[in-house]
Amino acid sequence: MTTTEAGTTTDESRELPWHLTGNYGPIKEELDADNLEVEGSIPAEIDGQYMRNGFNPISGWSDHWFFGDGMIHAVDLRDGTASIRNRYVQTPGLAAGGGAMSMDPKDSPANTNVVRHAGRIFALEEAHGMYEMDQDLNTIGLETFDGGIVGPFTAHPKLCPTTGEMLAFGYNVVGPEYLRYYRFDAAGALVQSEPITLPAGVMIHDFNITQNHVVWMDLPVCFDLEKAIGGEAPFGWTPDNGSRLGVMPRNGGDADIRWFDIEPGYVLHPVNSWEEGDKIVLVVCRLDSFMDGGFDDISGKAELWRWTIDLTTGTVKEEHLDDRKSDFPRVNDRLVGLKTRFGYTQQLGHTPENPSMGQEVYKYDLETGEAEVHNLGNVNGGEPVFVPRGEGGAEDDGWVVLLGHDVETDRSELRIIDAQDFSGAPVARVFTPQRVPYGSHGNWMPRG
Ligand SMILES: [Fe+2]
Repeated sequence: MTTTEAGTTTDESRELPWHLTGNYGPIKEELDADNLEVEGSIPAEIDGQYMRNGFNPISGWSDHWFFGDGMIHAVDLRDGTASIRNRYVQTPGLAAGGGAMSMDPKDSPANTNVVRHAGRIFALEEAHGMYEMDQDLNTIGLETFDGGIVGPFTAHPKLCPTTGEMLAFGYNVVGPEYLRYYRFDAAGALVQSEPITLPAGVMIHDFNITQNHVVWMDLPVCFDLEKAIGGEAPFGWTPDNGSRLGVMPRNGGDADIRWFDIEPGYVLHPVNSWEEGDKIVLVVCRLDSFMDGGFDDISGKAELWRWTIDLTTGTVKEEHLDDRKSDFPRVNDRLVGLKTRFGYTQQLGHTPENPSMGQEVYKYDLETGEAEVHNLGNVNGGEPVFVPRGEGGAEDDGWVVLLGHDVETDRSELRIIDAQDFSGAPVARVFTPQRVPYGSHGNWMPRG
């Protein structure tokens, strides 16, 4: 056994891949710390918790970045001060030493997102079921909604700011049912569950909502059962499968979907989508291809694109808006599914050792594709989440927060950026007592 620079203990006989080294490497200690060190000042109006999920293999080893056990960090901001807590999601796999990855819904690593709806908090990963947490990060357990969630559940449900509904789905890699739509009302009850027909098993990481529609993305990262049985990487880039967008009324079903062919490409994360008359606009972080070299190959880099679906002519206009490489897009949550001017994205990493997190954050004008740049200095960033100043105000009246890691000092920080002075100095850098490994997604949860 040996201890790596990242502080992880591992088996000497294995060469550590990028996703287990540097700040991708896991931490083990669950900590609580108050009165965190702050450079600058935390705006007193900010009152709530920023929770973020990520991959943190308890054994020190995972076969893929996406397989590490889920650990949630929660930074609590109140009266200009900050505290932090981090906890594993307590799954059966964690209890068994980590990494258990059967297809059983309960065997989730629960590592990709943490979402609050109707006062309940869920740790989510797309190949398994939902794990409920409390606001102190205690794990409550698997939640199936009385058996209503019949298989996997996405890590990217959408919260409608107008109706309070949560719209979601689960995809299966093996048929016959490849996709299922779920709709929850504002009180948190599961009110609709619809099977959706797809011709093949594809990876559907995220989807889109507008005021009246959901838009499915049937894109050709395909599952190959024969390869999986033979022990090869089960997903891969298969452009011959085609690429399609499916427009469905939010309260509709499979028979109501209109499918539109588009050029082959892949989208992990849309920025936002909305309706403009008889058109539906989707702004997305799009890759020309993804997983070309198989499931382990996530070296592809997304750029900003706009797809405009014309429901009258039945065509899709595809526009490349910018050639900077970025992903992890967010908008003001008050405008999810509604027309937005601004989207925030994280620059992707440039090196084999750090493919995911770069040192710039972008505030895009989604109309023009122009961006204001926040330079993080020596800090590699993370998903930029918008924190509103209040309930009304301008679209960008608030702050952008992210958890980043300083590669020079090996310290992590919550960076708070004024969204209306985006390229200026950060409002605050809140330093954490131990480093926070690069993670995936999270959300701002205002108090109350
Ligand atoms: Fe994601």
